[in-house]
Amino acid sequence: MGEKTIRVELKDRGYPVHIGGGVSAKHLPPLTLNAEVALVADTHVAAQPWFAPLRDRLAAGAAKFLPLTVPAGEPAKSLAEFARLCSALARARISRRGKIVAVGGGVVGDLAGFVAASYLRGVAFIQVPTSLLAAVDSSVGGKTGVNLPEGKNLVGAFYQPAAVVIDLDFLPTLPPRELAAGMAEVVKYGIISDPEFFDLVKPGAPADLAPVIEKSVAIKAGVVADDERESTGRRASLNFGHTIAHAIEQTAGYGQWLHGEAVSVGMMGAAWLSHRLLGLPLTVTQDLRAALTANRLPVTISGLEFDRLAPVIAVDKKSTGQKVNWVLCPELGRTVQTTAVPEELVREAIEVCAGRKDI
Ligand code: GLY
Repeated sequence: MGEKTIRVELKDRGYPVHIGGGVSAKHLPPLTLNAEVALVADTHVAAQPWFAPLRDRLAAGAAKFLPLTVPAGEPAKSLAEFARLCSALARARISRRGKIVAVGGGVVGDLAGFVAASYLRGVAFIQVPTSLLAAVDSSVGGKTGVNLPEGKNLVGAFYQPAAVVIDLDFLPTLPPRELAAGMAEVVKYGIISDPEFFDLVKPGAPADLAPVIEKSVAIKAGVVADDERESTGRRASLNFGHTIAHAIEQTAGYGQWLHGEAVSVGMMGAAWLSHRLLGLPLTVTQDLRAALTANRLPVTISGLEFDRLAPVIAVDKKSTGQKVNWVLCPELGRTVQTTAVPEELVREAIEVCAGRKDI
């Protein structure tokens, strides 16, 4: 299997994203040689057959080696786990020259990245995403952080990794549900920026994920290079479907729905709003539903209620002052942002998400 490297162009903070089978064995040892290395993984990833050889290889070359395990699942993205990891680094006397290697899905990457951003005011970190969602989205771009009971990702930092290493040999062990969750973000890239890519992924996840990951990372890298800190609106376009998704995740309790599953349903709500407010053809909304279904994703979640979701939507961190910043899609491949979404349309969108209103 060939290897591809995509660079996130951020001047002196730019970094490579290596994608391919076996790239971890090739790129991680030189990146961590003679360094003080803290290897962070969750209990699920630490039990994978490829994990022990990876750990041993890094331990053998490191000046100091600290393996750290966190519980699997979204609840680990907490201030309590953040504090526990920082204390472990301090007790092991990891210095400013330390390197944190995050091996896992989005939860581990976001949590370990925030630890790296904060511990001693910043140590280097390397992302090794092992879920499709982390590979195509969260590992690239430097968004790190944890959840609060009040909302998702409410505490965090923009902190770019030194490198991202996507070893395709780790992905075949993914449970089908996690694979599908990653495809939600892939379908999103098509909807927001690339109609041809949308057509490619509409029938479902291809057996060979390499081209899908490469294309997704290339889109994400371009957006991040253009608007690293989500200040011009370009990066915010990646939040299509996420306003409702975050509210679904939080009201259901973190971990009940995978992020990609909530994004899938949230995109149906955003597409409905786009249709009603901006004239997105209904056929595109129906195509999106077909694409998400073909990718084995939920398109509705029964029992969703406006009255429970609305207060959470209102504190979404992407809010502008008192108004929620909605990312909508006037046509396939293009987004706009607006705070002018009437409450009755949000109610309708939630009805669509709950499956009580057909499209
Ligand atoms: N996941 C959205 C972003 O990285 O901006």
